[in-house]
Amino acid sequence: MIALAVDSLTKADVEDKMKALFSRHHGEKQELIPILQETQAQFRYLPAAAMKEIARFLRMPESTVYGVSTFYAQFKLTPLGKKIIRVCRGTACHVRGATKVLNELESRLGIKAGETTDDLEYTLETVACIGACALAPTMTIDNVTHGKMTAKKVAEVLGDRSEAKQEK
Ligand code: FES
Repeated sequence: MIALAVDSLTKADVEDKMKALFSRHHGEKQELIPILQETQAQFRYLPAAAMKEIARFLRMPESTVYGVSTFYAQFKLTPLGKKIIRVCRGTACHVRGATKVLNELESRLGIKAGETTDDLEYTLETVACIGACALAPTMTIDNVTHGKMTAKKVAEVLGDRSEAKQEK
């Protein structure tokens, strides 16, 4: 279980990728948000080295880049898993057992909501409502909705991961 995963990117990797990304921009301060979004799309999170490069490119303090990236929930400062699992904790899902589903996921993955597995396979998050209340309780894996979830069904939707955990 981790909050901070091992970052295998080298400084040179980041600099090369950022150089290519900056070639599509003019270096104006109002480009900060789009550049942060593109950086996150590139790395799946915002590496510290990339934020340094952004500050240099836009000629603004690193603290400003960091401040903006922590203000918006869309930006992640630690690596995300290859698969993003979101468990709905909206009212409809809550009253129909979302907590049991979340507990089962946390136990099988060995992480808490908001964390990523050590092997960077899964990130577990919770959301307010995914708009499929008729199927409550719901969860998504990479934006594919799984409805009428139960703790038992968690093993089914996790597939290989569940088998791997059971073998241990
Ligand atoms: S409350 Fe869970 S989908 Fe709406």
